Amino acid sequence: MKNICILGSTGSIGVSSLEVISGLGDRFRPVCLTANRNVDLLAEQVRVHRPAAVAILDASAAADFRNRMNGSVEVLDGPSGLLEIVKREDVDMVIGSMVGFSGLAPTLEAVKLGKNVALANKESLVVAGELMTGLASERGAKIVPIDSEHSAILQCLAGEDPATVERLILTASGGPFLDRDAGGFGKVTVGEALRHPTWKMGKKITIDSATLMNKGLEVIEARWLFGLDPDRIGVLVHPQSIVHSMVEFVDGSVKAQLGVPDMKVPIQYALTWPDRTPSRWERLDFSKLNGMTFLPPDTEKFRCLPLAYGALRAGGTAPVVLNAANEVSVGLFLAGRLTFDRIPDLIADALDRFPAQAAGELETIIDADRRTRSYLEKYN
Ligand SMILES: NC(=O)c1ccc[n+]([C@@H]2O[C@H](COP(=O)([O-])OP(=O)(O)OC[C@H]3O[C@@H](n4cnc5c(N)ncnc54)[C@H](OP(=O)(O)O)[C@@H]3O)[C@@H](O)[C@H]2O)c1
Repeated sequence: MKNICILGSTGSIGVSSLEVISGLGDRFRPVCLTANRNVDLLAEQVRVHRPAAVAILDASAAADFRNRMNGSVEVLDGPSGLLEIVKREDVDMVIGSMVGFSGLAPTLEAVKLGKNVALANKESLVVAGELMTGLASERGAKIVPIDSEHSAILQCLAGEDPATVERLILTASGGPFLDRDAGGFGKVTVGEALRHPTWKMGKKITIDSATLMNKGLEVIEARWLFGLDPDRIGVLVHPQSIVHSMVEFVDGSVKAQLGVPDMKVPIQYALTWPDRTPSRWERLDFSKLNGMTFLPPDTEKFRCLPLAYGALRAGGTAPVVLNAANEVSVGLFLAGRLTFDRIPDLIADALDRFPAQAAGELETIIDADRRTRSYLEKYN
């Protein structure tokens, strides 16, 4: 049995992870759970899954929770609580499913301790790819992707010589505005942007999917997970989200991984990798598919994608600035203080303001993130 710490158990990936773990019988035990402040759902998860400890970022929510639990579970709090929980000796493996830059410190802590990480929190690899993958190979920690595209690539690469890979092709649904004219982007409402055509996810990644920044972040994530340069990582829009990604090999052969759009499948693969285990999730019924289409992304309309490629090529702290500016812009859009069409403008402004510097140290990364956020306060 492996003891798991789920960072962000109350989120979309966290909830699905608990469902996957329950379906795998006694192979895994969710020994630690964490949340930002959703203590109602956390209390329910504690009741059902009986973890030994939880960590809650928000100190007052944690104090509340401690009273409520009456000693039945250990309650840690604040940023230090999130670090402490992954350090616990009873934690064998971590699911990184917090959202955004906040996931970096605890995920990195797990890697430092040589603990394997099933990673959904792509932002931590985007901002600290070099540091995290370097530490993982030094400490013997495996970082196994949960993102469906990267899981697909991992599955296509199984049994293949990495030297025979020509390029990776990440598929993208294209989001809700695939067919909308860019001229109308200024009028996009939050409700419309949150209506993703194929996936049900947390708010931040749903907006990232609508701008195609999610695909940009995934290109950077793929660079660190699979070690290919940006010219060999392509993006193809595939609105049905059935082909989750592909690998083209030197002989011209292409392998793809297909399945219904359900995150429980890549979550289970990340937990049991390199094994494949039975599941009861919905199967793909080819007779019900209404065709599959593929088209190149429109990079003039979806400017976040080329901005992400640019940041990856610039290297160093550029992806940190890209990520921080994106988190700020998405937050402003969700709060109704920025129009949808302006999201790439703020990101471009921040990238112009902060030229790339080496990003080998955690302090440099934290500093670049902080400076970008404070620079963008002028848009508040
Ligand atoms: N959802 C998907 O289908 C999907 C697919 C692929 C990759 N991903 C990636 O997986 C990650 C999680 O996505 P999600 O959709 O599951 O997000 P989500 O539903 O918004 O959940 C985020 C989780 O992180 C916690 N959290 C948020 N801010 C925090 C902070 N500052 N400190 C500590 N905990 C914090 C939340 O706690 P509260 O509930 O208390 O707020 C929640 O448990 C993202 O990086 C996303 O890109 C998601």
